[in-house]
Amino acid sequence: CRDAGGWYYVLLFPPSVPSAPPQLSIVSTSSTDIRLMWRPLSSQHSRGAVTRYHIEYSTLDQVDTVFSVEVRGNETQFTLRELQPNQDYRLRIAAGTGIGFGVPSEWALHQTLANHSMVIFAPTELKVRARVDILNVTWHPSPNHTLVSGYKLSCREVEADESDNGEKTTQTHTIRLRKKARYHLLTGLVPDQQYEVRVWAFNKQIDGAAAVWKGRTDKTHDRGKIYLTACVRKKSSIQAAANSSTSILLRWEKPRFSNVRIINYTVRCSPAGTTNASLVSYYTSSAQEILLGALRPFTRYKLAVQSNGVDVVGPFSGTVEESTLSDRPSTPPEELQLSALDSSSVVASWRPPLEPNGIIISYRILFSGNLSQPEHLWENLSQDGSITSVEVQGLSSDTRYFFKLEASTEVGPGPFSPVKDVHTPLQIYGMCQKVHAIYR
Ligand SMILES: *[C@@H]1O[C@H](CO)[C@@H](O)[C@H](O)[C@H]1NC(C)=O
Ligand SMILES: *[C@@H]1O[C@H](CO)[C@@H](O)[C@H](O)[C@H]1NC(C)=O
Ligand SMILES: *[C@@H]1O[C@H](CO)[C@@H](O)[C@H](O)[C@H]1NC(C)=O
Ligand SMILES: *[C@@H]1O[C@H](CO)[C@@H](O)[C@H](O)[C@H]1NC(C)=O
Ligand SMILES: *[C@@H]1O[C@H](CO)[C@@H](O)[C@H](O)[C@H]1NC(C)=O
Ligand SMILES: *[C@@H]1O[C@H](CO)[C@@H](O)[C@H](O)[C@H]1NC(C)=O
Ligand SMILES: *[C@@H]1O[C@H](CO)[C@@H](O)[C@H](O)[C@H]1NC(C)=O
Ligand SMILES: *[C@@H]1O[C@H](CO)[C@@H](O)[C@H](O)[C@H]1NC(C)=O
Repeated sequence: CRDAGGWYYVLLFPPSVPSAPPQLSIVSTSSTDIRLMWRPLSSQHSRGAVTRYHIEYSTLDQVDTVFSVEVRGNETQFTLRELQPNQDYRLRIAAGTGIGFGVPSEWALHQTLANHSMVIFAPTELKVRARVDILNVTWHPSPNHTLVSGYKLSCREVEADESDNGEKTTQTHTIRLRKKARYHLLTGLVPDQQYEVRVWAFNKQIDGAAAVWKGRTDKTHDRGKIYLTACVRKKSSIQAAANSSTSILLRWEKPRFSNVRIINYTVRCSPAGTTNASLVSYYTSSAQEILLGALRPFTRYKLAVQSNGVDVVGPFSGTVEESTLSDRPSTPPEELQLSALDSSSVVASWRPPLEPNGIIISYRILFSGNLSQPEHLWENLSQDGSITSVEVQGLSSDTRYFFKLEASTEVGPGPFSPVKDVHTPLQIYGMCQKVHAIYR
């Protein structure tokens, strides 16, 4: 406030205790932790510098046994540790200045997470006996054997240049095995190839830690066989070929791990570059090929294949891309517009078809003064596919002309646009015209 002499007065309040508690938010990061977070009080509420916070907590079962911790005034979070899993706790906080603590917050309730974050330990003594095209995988049970429902085993080829982090196309095949299983035979492998084998136990809630083996199958002494294998491996295991403007033929090889009987394959197909999930389609095939139909002409598709066994679903393969062939345009050129430049010339302009189904290589413009004349008697003009207007000259004056046009890809022409008409003006003969007018 200000007095008549122009002096300002500042009202000073003596430091006091905070008038409100901080607002708590609470999360659990594990089954034995609770993390508390809060915002510093505004100066209006703190009424002095906050030097410390007082946190109190107890289980709901034993509300009389209250534990407390004090935290420095510059902190805004604190984690309570070594709590009991799956237990209800109540917690509250108060802020304090040099004078004392303000009112504590209401008790907040929080339940720690249940402890089925239980760890399942890895099977012990994983051993793999490698031969030319077989790995015999053996292991001893997980220390938590009584709580597991079974084992899982995965195998994949390890590429020599795996460090470059390119898109890996090697398939990881995962197999479920019974709880009693102590060994598994992987067959049909590639000689002298590095593999990674993982075995882990699982139950209804979680997968356990995996025991991992990395090693190489033996070299074969049969030269012919090496040669054959190398040849097969050079090819991609999926091949796509455009079959028509609306179909692509996709063929693939069986996955190498023949220990699972494959019932059928799932094929995933989507236009390349789309981010719209509803444009992704799935097909099933029990053969090692499928003719994908009802596709859009002249469109690039991304394709991938997955194998399905009984109760086992493999991962999707790496994708291959293929475009459907081009086709005739399925719609006419758009928005044909005509305007008479003078008594003998007309400019026609248009836009390309909405569904060109390929690259437009040319437009053909037909025009006639007689709409009922058969098409082959109309006059015609051809234009390069990159051009969308033309000036038509040598027309008769004071005549109604009809125009239409079509676009062509390398496959052929599409439909004609609707007919539009234009009237060329009467030729004006300067003086003559005026004289006529005067005498009339
Ligand atoms: C609070 O202050 C103490 C002592 O000055 C310091 O060790 C600690 O890092 C500070 N904490 C924060 C969150 O700034
Ligand atoms: C699994 O076994 C290990 C070693 O015996 C043990 O420490 C761990 O608590 C067990 N996990 C469960 C969920 O029982
Ligand atoms: C694989 O190992 C198991 C356990 O040692 C053995 O019983 C089985 O005969 C082996 N199979 C082959 C084909 O070597
Ligand atoms: C398209 O697929 C059919 C059936 O597989 C085949 O007979 C035909 O030759 C294929 N056409 C082309 C152009 O690949
Ligand atoms: C995704 O595709 C569907 C089907 O063609 C279409 O109806 C939908 O509008 C598209 N969504 C987006 C976001 O483009
Ligand atoms: C494909 O195989 C899976 C797994 O055996 C089966 O569940 C599914 O019904 C099969 N789909 C078709 C279309 O045969
Ligand atoms: C228009 O063409 C039709 C069919 O060729 C013909 O019968 C008719 O005489 C023509 N009209 C004129 C005005 O030339
Ligand atoms: C286009 O017009 C020319 C004469 O200008 C004619 O020889 C030709 O047959 C016409 N083509 C078509 C497809 O009507």
